[in-house]
Amino acid sequence: MSGDIYGNKILILDFGSQYTQLIARRVRESHVYCEIHPFNTSPEKIRDFSPTGIILSGGPASIYDTGAPIIDKGTIDLGVPVLGICYGMQYLAHIMGGLVSRADDREYGSAPIAVQDDKDLFHGFVKGQEEIVWMSHGDRIEALPSGFTVLASSRNSPVAAMSDLSGRFFGVQFHPEVVHTPKGARILRNFLFRICGCEPLWTMSSFVERTIRDLKEKVGNERVICGISGGVDSSVTAVLLHKAIGEKLSCIFVDNGLLRRGESQEVMELFRDSYRMKVHLVDSSEHFLSRLKGVTDPEQKRKIIGREFITVFEAKARELGRARYLAQGTLYPDVIESVSFKGPSATIKSHHNVGGLPEVMNLSLIEPLRELFKDEARLVGLELGLPKELVMRQPFPGPGLAVRILGEVTPDRLEILRSADLILLDEIRRADLYEKVWQSFAVLLPVKTVGVMGDERTYEHVIALRIVDSQDAMTADWTRVPHEILARISNRIINNVRGVNRVVLDISSKPPSTIEWE
Ligand code: XMP
Repeated sequence: MSGDIYGNKILILDFGSQYTQLIARRVRESHVYCEIHPFNTSPEKIRDFSPTGIILSGGPASIYDTGAPIIDKGTIDLGVPVLGICYGMQYLAHIMGGLVSRADDREYGSAPIAVQDDKDLFHGFVKGQEEIVWMSHGDRIEALPSGFTVLASSRNSPVAAMSDLSGRFFGVQFHPEVVHTPKGARILRNFLFRICGCEPLWTMSSFVERTIRDLKEKVGNERVICGISGGVDSSVTAVLLHKAIGEKLSCIFVDNGLLRRGESQEVMELFRDSYRMKVHLVDSSEHFLSRLKGVTDPEQKRKIIGREFITVFEAKARELGRARYLAQGTLYPDVIESVSFKGPSATIKSHHNVGGLPEVMNLSLIEPLRELFKDEARLVGLELGLPKELVMRQPFPGPGLAVRILGEVTPDRLEILRSADLILLDEIRRADLYEKVWQSFAVLLPVKTVGVMGDERTYEHVIALRIVDSQDAMTADWTRVPHEILARISNRIINNVRGVNRVVLDISSKPPSTIEWE
């Protein structure tokens, strides 16, 4: 646990809500540092963290479920303010001696609450006024613990918000962290600044300053290797390190032949021209393609690419000389220990980043972005002067176009997909959608269909368009792109990409589909 340098920090204890990361993002947006830890984090660890305030998240369980997440009262009784949200509030009421019971009707969605207070948590609100909030719960508080008072109520929740008279324990039945609670951010800010007394010290410039100082100190005279992919996370990591340790950093860019058109050249030029950074390009296109010959199974493709990447990267790194560290662009969502009540989840896809490398090469990891959410990593990129086009880049999978070519990856099929993808991205940019959607890309299907061009019968490939909205890639929905734009994309692809006579649109959400097709 870290972050003391920012003066105040909030601890979020996670009871498994789908909104826990959103609470953290709202706190960070208010320039207060926070970390998410599982609800069963030991009291000693919590004391070590020394939080300025604690937030108990919501969660899917009912207090009365067998196996419902419970914590010791001592865990939250550290003398610092506590805010319970949804399950967190019910749990707070329960351990403080109140009565929680199943509500007759599950309350889900927007609901009006009547606010009965205008201080502390509800500072800036008007007593007696209705506010809209987002509810999502099955249990409700029937009787307050002694020493507590009601701050707001709704039709289904007589206790929609509460606090104790000492002003240290607060609870809200609704979700202030979601946008459907219009004044939710204000409630959270009241908790942070009025109740906990936090100061807004967490800014990206303070992060950059501290990180550069820490990196200098940590690396000393050793050498660091960093793999760059052209994506935001690895680029920000590389530039941050370059600012800290200069020539002691060696960057390696492996062109696996599965990138989009012009991509490898663009990345090389950017680092060379804008940063005067030396990037070692390893062109292994042919090597990767020969290994992928005849392979059609998605998992096998991913495994081959991951393995070959390690081989190629390792060989180049050894050629450059002995290094002690490997830098990676790991972000906070990959680090948060997730709360699971259902046991480990199944492997859906083997993700390829640089997994396995540190062990193979006996390198220690440096992960300067591991405290940051994606939007914060982007802000750091802007702070470091990276161009907006790079900072706002859509995610691109490690195995590249191989997982967007269903069936065998061949030079011809790569060419078709690259041409179609270029047109799709061009139209999405022209329509000003590039930064609004999460990802937009083309997929080449392993089927041919009959068409007619001029008077000729054709029998050619099909391209699928995948354009999705998402917050974090865990869930996604297909973007409702205006029909005229879809029509233009389809026309341009069919008219200009040789070998394609049909374009289809993917209208599946995740789950049950995934974003990539393989
Ligand atoms: P799926 O297809 O699982 O993708 O819904 C979720 C997000 O992850 C990206 N993705 C990857 N990113 N290495 C990566 O770094 C990978 O192997 C990989 N596979 C998928 C995908 O583009 C989407 O944003």
